[in-house]
Amino acid sequence: MPPVRQGTEAAADFVVVANRLPVHPDRGPSGEVRWQRSPGGLVSALEPILRSRRGAWVGWPGSTGPVGAALPQQGIGLAAVPLDEEEHRDYYEGFSNATLWPLFHDAVVPPVYDQRWWHSYERVNRRFAEHTAARAAPGATVWVQDYQLMLVPDLIRRLRPDVRIGFFLHIPFPPAELLLQLPWRTELVAGLLGADLVGFQLPGGANNFLLLAERLGCGRAERGPAGPGVLGTLRLPGRTVRVGAFPISIDTADFETLAGSAPVRQQARQIRDRLGADRRILLGVDRLDYTKGIDHRLRAYEELLAEGRVTARDTVLVQVATPSRERVAHYRAERALIEARVGRINGAYGEIGRAPVHYLHTTVDRVALAALYRAADVMLVTPLRDGMNLVAKEFVAARPDLGGALVLSEFAGAAAELAEARLVNPHHLAALKDAVAAALAQDPAEGRRRMAALRRRVRERDVDHWARSFLRALHGVRPEDGADPDGARRHPVSA
Ligand code: ADP
Ligand code: F6P
Repeated sequence: MPPVRQGTEAAADFVVVANRLPVHPDRGPSGEVRWQRSPGGLVSALEPILRSRRGAWVGWPGSTGPVGAALPQQGIGLAAVPLDEEEHRDYYEGFSNATLWPLFHDAVVPPVYDQRWWHSYERVNRRFAEHTAARAAPGATVWVQDYQLMLVPDLIRRLRPDVRIGFFLHIPFPPAELLLQLPWRTELVAGLLGADLVGFQLPGGANNFLLLAERLGCGRAERGPAGPGVLGTLRLPGRTVRVGAFPISIDTADFETLAGSAPVRQQARQIRDRLGADRRILLGVDRLDYTKGIDHRLRAYEELLAEGRVTARDTVLVQVATPSRERVAHYRAERALIEARVGRINGAYGEIGRAPVHYLHTTVDRVALAALYRAADVMLVTPLRDGMNLVAKEFVAARPDLGGALVLSEFAGAAAELAEARLVNPHHLAALKDAVAAALAQDPAEGRRRMAALRRRVRERDVDHWARSFLRALHGVRPEDGADPDGARRHPVSA
């Protein structure tokens, strides 16, 4: 399926390439297409950046059949890369989400290595590169996103040596000892090395990558700062690749405005009234993914109920879980596990009108999401491993009242910045229970102090700061240069 340029598609100076477009089609009651926002942190972070720019977003529109409606444009030039049913199974569900996803998340479930999936990944990555090459203006900046597209930087470089290429990995980059399991490890690293800058969430990921690339003989690593965020370089024959850490964030100001709006405040009050004004609300909001530690937090709550440290009369846990990757075996198993536990907890500890767990297997809109954050007393973010976790940052941004406590896993990238949260090891059940109990019992003054510190951090380091840092590093700008000569000025991150 070669890229087909439609008359309205202008060449763009700034192109984001991601597996998903920021919208996907949904069918209304009479079969009409309604465009919905796509799930996940990547879209939450990048959508506000591209909305304010004259850029293009190349990605899969989220359905394998014919879409049957024109893509909405909304200030972003959306360019669709089609996938057929087999590619959806082998490239997306298979190699991306049953090989790379578990392998890069500490192998919390065993990764599957399948040659057919690998070939599909190669083929689809080539298609993304071709569509991008057809869309990028001469000398454009191309920013490739995430683990689904790790071969794309090198493929674009071959097709379009004139463009500048950045790559950002949204998920953790594991230690070499783990990644060396992958039969196609050298090809994957070579794919990334097509970029001028390879960015990770945390310095640990950047260092793991430098070590692995060197160990595989892909380049000579030089460690040490080489510009803001840049922690080292890899010298290849004839060129240099910079490697750095750029923790992603949210559009804090936008989220604060939303959270302070009248509809959100009203909905937050309704939520509190409906759940019982005398009950403390514990909240979890995640894609339904086995890396998110949803079952671990439910288990902790179940034991607190069993021990009488909390009751269904004085607390309620609301868990909102977005359906995700639903045909992948480990996701089905996780859903079954969670739903069985919710049923058990409600059966054992509920009363008429007082279910201890309210579980919603759905995506909620932004107003409802912000209202839940505002209504919560304790936010539970307990992943076993997470690149960043934007939910933690959204919760903080939603609390101008300085209320609420954040229980945050040490294994979320966000823990590196959000040190005033109640940090916890989710594998340590007793510690998790104590952290939840301590958050519930928190002295209000102590809570306000913690929340004020968290809010300062999320304000200083918002998504604009993330994108600006990455793009400046990509264009080799040093702080003393002010605006960069060719790229960041032409493509300002803020309007
Ligand atoms: P991931 O990228 O792994 O999904 P993040 O926590 O970084 O995890 O980002 C998740 C994003 O998806 C956040 O912006 C969050 O608000 C959104 N989200 C998660 N669950 C839901 C839900 N049930 N309804 C609406 N939005 C959700
Ligand atoms: O960053 C994690 C991530 O995999 C993103 O790449 C993706 O957009 C999001 O989670 C949601 O996952 P999916 O696109 O598989 O629904």
